[in-house]
Parts: sequence; C-alpha cells; structure tokens
Amino acid sequence: MKALIASGGRGTRLRPITHTQNKHLIPIANKPILYYAIEAAAEAGIKEIGIVHNADSQEVPNYIGNGSKWGVKITYIPQTVPGGLAQVVQLAEKFIAGDKFIFYLGDNMLVGGVKKFVEEFEKSKCNCYLTLSKVKDPERFGVPEIRNGKIIRVEEKPKKPKSNYAVAGIYLYDHNIFDAVKSLKPSARGELEISDAHSLLIKRGFKVGYTEITGWWKDTGKPTDLLEANRLILDNIKPYIAGEVDEQSDVAGRVVIEKGARIIKSKIRGPVIIGKNCIIKDSYIGPFTSIGDRTEIKDSEIEYSIVLRDCKVINVGIRIEGSILGNDVEIVEAAGKPRVHRFMIGDQSRIEVV
Ligand code: DAU
Repeated sequence: MKALIASGGRGTRLRPITHTQNKHLIPIANKPILYYAIEAAAEAGIKEIGIVHNADSQEVPNYIGNGSKWGVKITYIPQTVPGGLAQVVQLAEKFIAGDKFIFYLGDNMLVGGVKKFVEEFEKSKCNCYLTLSKVKDPERFGVPEIRNGKIIRVEEKPKKPKSNYAVAGIYLYDHNIFDAVKSLKPSARGELEISDAHSLLIKRGFKVGYTEITGWWKDTGKPTDLLEANRLILDNIKPYIAGEVDEQSDVAGRVVIEKGARIIKSKIRGPVIIGKNCIIKDSYIGPFTSIGDRTEIKDSEIEYSIVLRDCKVINVGIRIEGSILGNDVEIVEAAGKPRVHRFMIGDQSRIEVV
C-alpha cells in the first residue's frame, strides 16, 4: 500500500494568503495542513508516499523534505498545470507501480486518521473505495447517487445533487483506476475530474464501495473552512506550557504555549496555541486562536482567529475575531493626528472596519 497526496493547484479561493504561500503549507493549529495528511498515511503504516506538487515551485519539496521525520520515504511528482485530480492520478502511475494506494487530497483534514479506511478497503476486495461525508452544501463537491446501498454514479459539483453526501478527498484504489483516468475527457471547467473516473469504473463493472466518515472532515477550500479546521484541531489539542507566564497573567482551558513565548499581564482562554518566542502583553487571547512563532500582541484582544508568524498586533482598540493574518502582517495603532485608518494591503485582501 502506498499513498499519493495532491498538493498542487493554485489555491485561488484562499488569496491573498496563497499569493505568497502554497495553500497546503498554511498552518492549522501552527502545523502545515499537509503535515496532517502525511501523518495520517504514516500512522496507517504506509512507508512510501508520493506528493504531486506544482512543477514551477519547489516550495513543498523544500519545506516537507524526504519524509524521514515521519519514518516514510517521500517521492515528489511535479505537475506542469493543474489539470484536475484524475491527471494527478495519471502522473503517479509509475510511482504506484501496480500497488494499491490511498489518494489523499492535501487540503483535506480529518480527525481519526485513515487506518480504518485502509483496513476496510483491503477486506472489501473493492477496486475503488470512497469515503463519504454528509454535508449541507453538496453542490461544492463530488456527489454520489446511491441506489439500494450502492453508488451508481458520482457527479462533480452538480447543480441538483442526488444525495446530501460529499465524496471526501480520501480515496482508495487498486491499479484499475489508471485505465479509467486515461479514458477521460476534460470537463466543462477544463479538468480531468476524479468523479468522472469513479463513474466510469462503475459503468465498466468494477466494484466501487464506500464508507461514511462519522467524525469531522473538512475540505479547507475557503477561509472560513480554515478557521473551522483550526477550531476543531485546537479542540483536541494536548495542553502544555513550555514558555513563560508571569504571575499577573491568567491562563485557562486547553492552552499550548511554546518555548520562548512570554505571556505578560494577559488573559488566555483556551483552546489556544501560542508559537515559539511570541510576546503577548496586556492582551486577551480567546478560544480557538492560533498564534504563529515570533508574533507580538500588545494591548489587544483576539479570538477565533489564525495569526501566522512574525506578526505585530499592537494597541488595536476593538477585539479582532474570525480573522486570518498572513506572515509578517502588522496591525498597529496609527500614531499622531488626525486619527485615521491607514492601510497598506496586498491584492485581494479583505478588511472589515467599524
Ligand atoms: O475535498 C473533496 C472534493 O475535492 C471532492 O468532493 C471533489 O469531488 C473533488 O473534485 C475535489 O474538489 P475541489 O474543488 O475541492 O478540488 P480542488 O481543485 O480544491 O483540489 C483538491 C486538492 O488537489 C487541493 O489540495 C489541490 C490539489 N490539486 C488540484 C488540482 C485540480 C492538485 O494537486 N492538482 C490539480 O490539478
């Protein structure tokens, strides 16, 4: 059994953060999204992982490395243009070399790992095994049509979904998937759709089974998904304090404070993670907030937010909530008169003021 992880694409729905950073490296609870997929594969006993990445960037290979950190061997497979998930599978044929494999979309997050699915797939003798999750907005996903307990077709982003299930981005295959992905034509949006490959396998009489994900699963396609994934991961975080908390501070709930971080005259209400060498002074950090390394927060309040590394939030009069701050972002009180808002914002940013 091998694993194939997709980390290409352009991440357009997460701009501006993805202008300068691959979406799969955005941290959730201070850990890149892609780590969760690698950890899940390693935990399922998989030793060989192929990662498909954008050919024009070495960001993912440079950041993730050869896999020794997880006790696995990672092979990188470049993709010249994001031509769809079925193309990602096509590109991996040589790497998979006839084995069975789990295909994991690098922007998907799942609690509970994938070991159970790998075992079920092996036992089922299916050629393809899909994971389904009940959702409120199936039109955003691949949607199965189920009749008498069997999937009879999968439609990609249908206007009129035939069920309230999404096919999650965790698929299990045997080698028959390769003939299917080679027979496809691009869809209306110009991509080789993995959902079409699934429908084709069914049409050709292959055994396509499924299981329902009962815990939480998230496709981190939109900014609100990132905040939700962050909330869900923080909710399960193991608390520890390696940094310094002064006597005038008050820390309660599930809180991680990393080495070198200093909490001074502040209130921290978990679940919260505060990265290495942060300074939190005269501030309030509320539930479901992740603060990246070396960030400084002074005389400010922040809750239900993701703040990346090296940010400065200083003397902000109103609580910051439901926000995502990229690397090196500064939100500081304007000095002098007149009292004005002064912005220096990159393309496709969004700011809400009161
Ligand atoms: O998350 C589950 C959904 O993922 C499924 O329900 C859909 O059937 C499936 O098509 C996919 O839909 P998305 O619209 O969410 O796919 P997205 O374009 O966001 O790409 C998913 C992941 O694959 C993401 O990590 C980027 C990567 N990717 C995508 C494409 C199109 C690549 O590595 N290469 C590509 O060519």
